[in-house]
Amino acid sequence: MGALLKLTIIGVTLAVLGERMVQLIHRSNFFREIEQVDLPNCQLLKGIEYGSEDIEVLPNGLAFISSGLKYPGIVHFAPEKPGEIFLLDLNDEKLRPYSLRISKGFDLSTFNPHGISTYIDEKDDSVYLFVVNHPWYKSAVEIFKFAEEENVLVHLKTIKHSALYNVNDVVAVGPESFYATNDYYFTDFIMRYVELFLGLRWTNVVYYSPGEVREVASGFYSANGLAMSSDKRFVYVADVTGHTVNVFEKHANWSLSPVKVVQLETLLDNLSVDPVTGDLWTGAHPNGFKVVNYNTKDTPGSEVVRIQNIHSDTPTVTTVYANDGSVLQASTCAVVYENKLLVGTIFHKALYCELE
Ligand SMILES: *[C@@H]1O[C@H](CO)[C@@H](O)[C@H](O)[C@H]1NC(C)=O
Ligand SMILES: *[C@@H]1O[C@H](CO)[C@@H](O)[C@H](O)[C@H]1NC(C)=O
Repeated sequence: MGALLKLTIIGVTLAVLGERMVQLIHRSNFFREIEQVDLPNCQLLKGIEYGSEDIEVLPNGLAFISSGLKYPGIVHFAPEKPGEIFLLDLNDEKLRPYSLRISKGFDLSTFNPHGISTYIDEKDDSVYLFVVNHPWYKSAVEIFKFAEEENVLVHLKTIKHSALYNVNDVVAVGPESFYATNDYYFTDFIMRYVELFLGLRWTNVVYYSPGEVREVASGFYSANGLAMSSDKRFVYVADVTGHTVNVFEKHANWSLSPVKVVQLETLLDNLSVDPVTGDLWTGAHPNGFKVVNYNTKDTPGSEVVRIQNIHSDTPTVTTVYANDGSVLQASTCAVVYENKLLVGTIFHKALYCELE
């Protein structure tokens, strides 16, 4: 090969790598520092110390909180401790979350809960809890029935499928059917970094039912949080490293068609919808680099963002809360119930605030 050609190849390769690096710095918000935004009436929930990755609130004010996520490349303060699902009654002023008992026969030792979703059967008001589980860092969706009188989660089913290879979040749409996001294309730890570095947009949303499984949306950098509008007409997908909320219309056959994309500055993780106002709430990572390079002297912060009127031409995006990590680290989700706000985190605590 001629020296000139070699030089050209090296030059082009360096240029491509450089461009990818710049993109990665942008997508991880490498240099971003946040301005703190305080809320007046907040307290940390007692007993939650190892994460509160996802939170789902039932219409009656009972909140499920998934805790103890172990995720490749992310710190965990008690790696030997299995995951848990906490229950918190938001109508009880004591605000005491407690760990729910899980029925016998379910392998608790490898329980590694991630996104959760509830489904209420209209026939008899039974509550089902869908939990993304990563035993041995693999992906499954567990379906539990919540036996409220006994305060037990009764395990019904483990769902595994080749289309559910790297599941992050679920939205239950039936007793055994759901939408799920895959947050990486590659399951291998090293290849995930390559994927992130190259900025491949290969992650997707899958519809699962016992009769049919298919991809319904794709082209995300990292499809993460998933939520449905209160009227059930729209599905919202958070693309964490794309910094976007992607709005889809849901059809009767469960297909999704793109409606619009709302660009944010922060790395939004999970999404939830205020059942009363329809506003979207997200817990977000102000700086993604600090999440994956955990340092007690420069902790990852937390940010809660509200999006109002997402279907209008001019949605209003407001940072409701922002903290540098001194109170709350690596927030993933923000859920409202009446005037109460709960903020969950990947591996840290959980915050409760009263909104004005
Ligand atoms: C995000 O929040 C929604 C709605 O609250 C929930 O269904 C979902 O499981 C959550 N997922 C993650 C990964 O936090
Ligand atoms: C689902 O319905 C939509 C809208 O009616 C249609 O455009 C789409 O082709 C359908 N998809 C499948 C897989 O049947």
